[in-house]
Amino acid sequence: MTAAPSRTTAPTGRPVAEAVAGLPTDFRWGVATSSYQIEGATEVDGRTPSIWDTFCRVPGAVEGGENGDLACDHYRRMPEDVALIADLGVDTYRFSLAWPRIQPHGRGPANARGLAFYDRLVDELLARDITPWITLYHWDLPQELEDAGGWPARDTAERFADYAALAYGALGDRVRHWTTLNEPWCSAWLGYHTGEHAPGRKNFGDAMHAVHHLLLAHGTAARRLREAAGSRPLELGITLNLGHHAPAGDSAEDLAAARAADGMGTRLYLDPLVHGRYPEDVLESLAARGVTMPVRDGDMETIAAPLDVLGVNYYSSHLHSGTAEDGSTTDADGLPVVRGVAHGRPRTAMGWEIVPEGLTALLLRLQRDYGLPTVITENGAAFEDRPAADGSVPDLDRIAYLDEHIRAVARARQQGADVRGYFAWSLMDNFEWAYGYAKRFGIVRVDYDTQRRTVKDSGLWYADTIRATRGR
Ligand code: NOJ
Repeated sequence: MTAAPSRTTAPTGRPVAEAVAGLPTDFRWGVATSSYQIEGATEVDGRTPSIWDTFCRVPGAVEGGENGDLACDHYRRMPEDVALIADLGVDTYRFSLAWPRIQPHGRGPANARGLAFYDRLVDELLARDITPWITLYHWDLPQELEDAGGWPARDTAERFADYAALAYGALGDRVRHWTTLNEPWCSAWLGYHTGEHAPGRKNFGDAMHAVHHLLLAHGTAARRLREAAGSRPLELGITLNLGHHAPAGDSAEDLAAARAADGMGTRLYLDPLVHGRYPEDVLESLAARGVTMPVRDGDMETIAAPLDVLGVNYYSSHLHSGTAEDGSTTDADGLPVVRGVAHGRPRTAMGWEIVPEGLTALLLRLQRDYGLPTVITENGAAFEDRPAADGSVPDLDRIAYLDEHIRAVARARQQGADVRGYFAWSLMDNFEWAYGYAKRFGIVRVDYDTQRRTVKDSGLWYADTIRATRGR
């Protein structure tokens, strides 16, 4: 007998049953966070500075001069936060390990006190029947490794593989789901090309070398984890930030611009990871900018280590034009113009357009070109939340965003994409990198004066949505 579809009990009136209609009862539902964004306790139990601790001290680098010193104080409030996760009814919690806690000098032995925190976190989750899903690297590189060259240096890939093996050695007996890197595009492009993220360097060639060494780090760590796992079940993946790159019009220039954007944003990562080679057109465009990838014998085989799952972080999509506003089709360096063009849709507080159908298109394209099972490891939105007088947070815009994107996932599944899970970004408001605490992505509100957590209406709605899938 099938139970009647449940309706939301969140004070939104929005029915949830339809949103999840295409999703199976064993669909994985989660919430996600990352270490530097929530933990605080940056000088506790032997942790050393990461590149973000350093970057936050650079005047003008982070809005309001904010930093992760306290963040959500999660390091001290972990049991309370795990209870909150359990109340939401999710089955999976995706979090990251802080490398400078586990291996404070970026090399050498593990720091037992740092590891002990994650040991307790994993046990606490398991005790509440929540599956831990670990990300090994969510941007907090030990500063000492940046001083030794950072991601543009090949040695960092080896250091990462050692760290991954240490972490797996300590937690692999209880944790089956491991993601090597979160959004390597951000680490390379924002960290070493535009300088908007730590370590704040601005050199295009360095950024591309960082891409290669991040991918190599992933592949080398993947091999080490498989060896260490032996016959123990291991679900290994990498998480990429991806969008659907469509041409703004049907001119040859626009088609080329969309292809170029897709090359730098998607194929530069997925072609080597899945097919073991960099895309020729991207290598040519790098060569036109005087950059060669620092590939050595055997690297591409290492990078193409088998993946069990591809993590997809989706927030928005863009159109692309090959013509500049002034009508020219080449830039000052004589290279083809690639200009992002808006869809003309409402935007979130980040200024990102809301394009849910881009997620359906992206998932179908990933299925077609790469054929991996996927999990949405992040999706969510920042909005200007306005708590009501009774303390509740009626964030209807966030509910609408989540609802539309979950429907987009369901549609992709109905059309053949093997999407197995969806994790909301984020469990709670947190340190939004260069934006500091100004942007709130949480489905739980954090009052930074008191550290009080309040489940927003979107959190209530999400819990109901999950219940609805399970109830069918
Ligand atoms: C992706 C990143 O992984 C996460 O750290 C960040 O907070 C969200 N995007 C929102 O920008």
